[in-house]
Amino acid sequence: MSQRAAIILAAGQGTRMKSALPKVLHKVGGRAMLDWSIDLAGRVGCTKIVIVISPDADVLRDHVTATLGADAIAVQEKPLGTGNAVQAAEDALAGFKGDVVVLYGDTPLISAPVIEDMFQALEDGAAIGILGFESEKQAYGRLVMNADGYLDAIVEAREATPAQLKIRLCNAGVMACRAGRLFRLLNAVTDDNAKGEFYLTDLPALAREDGDMTRPVICPEADVMGVDVRSDLAIAEGIFQTRRRGEALAGGVTMIAPETIWFSHDTIIEADVTLEPNIVFGPGVHVCSGAVIKAFSHLEGAHVGRDCMVGPHARLRPGAVLERGAKVGNFVEVKNTHIGAGAKASHLSYLGDGDIGAGANIGAGTIFCNYDGFFKHRTVIGEGAFVGSNSALVAPVKIGEGAYIGSGSVVTSDVSRNALAVGRARQKEFTGWAANFRTKMRAKKEGGGKADE
Ligand code: UD1
Repeated sequence: MSQRAAIILAAGQGTRMKSALPKVLHKVGGRAMLDWSIDLAGRVGCTKIVIVISPDADVLRDHVTATLGADAIAVQEKPLGTGNAVQAAEDALAGFKGDVVVLYGDTPLISAPVIEDMFQALEDGAAIGILGFESEKQAYGRLVMNADGYLDAIVEAREATPAQLKIRLCNAGVMACRAGRLFRLLNAVTDDNAKGEFYLTDLPALAREDGDMTRPVICPEADVMGVDVRSDLAIAEGIFQTRRRGEALAGGVTMIAPETIWFSHDTIIEADVTLEPNIVFGPGVHVCSGAVIKAFSHLEGAHVGRDCMVGPHARLRPGAVLERGAKVGNFVEVKNTHIGAGAKASHLSYLGDGDIGAGANIGAGTIFCNYDGFFKHRTVIGEGAFVGSNSALVAPVKIGEGAYIGSGSVVTSDVSRNALAVGRARQKEFTGWAANFRTKMRAKKEGGGKADE
């Protein structure tokens, strides 16, 4: 197999998004659109990836530098068209002799097998592989086919004849070509067209003049939808979510109302998990088999072990780890806390920066006071400990194995194993006080408020 590289075009201004954020950094499924394309390139085995950006795209430059390194950046000095944008990547690919695929930073839904088919077209002897789709929309370039099933040319909508405009097979813009041929053909492209731009789409016709063939690979229109405006972004999100819901169902996940579950690009839900309606998965969640996530829960950066129960209305934040059979109930927030096997926090708690031993019971309203205004501190609770309701554990603090904390305690010092700690005022009783009080107050009211003078 030849070496593979990807050129991802991201030099457009994206002004129609009306955003301070570069268009390609807007997210679908919790991942920047550009990162979807980078991920796609990686999955089809591209060892070299070049991102073409405009000179003033500082935020984008920083993102690419952090993701792939500065070597992956190529700058297109002026927006002179898609052909010119690909040419801008030539220096970054100097010496590369393998196959190149041209992708886009604003087209996040393309699947890897489709790109594999395009590389395969090159292996099979085509000079160019081009991605096409059937569409009723008018704006796309049209694929003009010949009788042999190869491409004669791509005609941009602006330059198409009325007969060509009737063609439904459209150009997605994605193209595969051997590196040497790609840049050689691009040198022959001119800007003599309706837009005065250097069109990448001129390549198939130029290749044909050399007697070389372009083979189309066809995919569904939804796969190649590009994002130009916010409504496109919402549509792309919807397509992504529908796909992921389908994959989860096919993988053995029970979802009572799949249309109300929101996944991230990397959500892992194992078979035999039950998801009640209205759950949001932010990035980095893994839910193991047998777990039940109840309605209206929000999870991100969390690991939910086998047979755990979460929610309803639970919030698991990054670093929440629930071991097998643990329970996190309603209105419980867990952040950066490890909850041991079978431990329970069933109601109304904040558990931040902690370690809860197996089988421990965290009473309703328990708060881990983890922050002193400057630093975060840990709360460590031993196995089988029992924390009474409405306790405030002021970190750093350790509760020993099997210890009891009396309800309503403010715990500021460590508690030894199997001890009882009570950190609140001792209860006092005044016999008959309430009856006396009522008698006195009634008299005061009847006497026009003068009783106590
Ligand atoms: C292009 C294709 C068209 C295809 C359509 C699919 C050409 C000439 N036309 O048209 O056949 O149907 O895509 O969406 O290629 N870009 C740059 N630098 C530039 C120009 C564009 O980086 O100088 C990037 C943009 O960021 C954008 C992408 O290339 O993401 C497509 O460019 P655009 O000018 O929008 O092409 P279309 O008119 O959509």
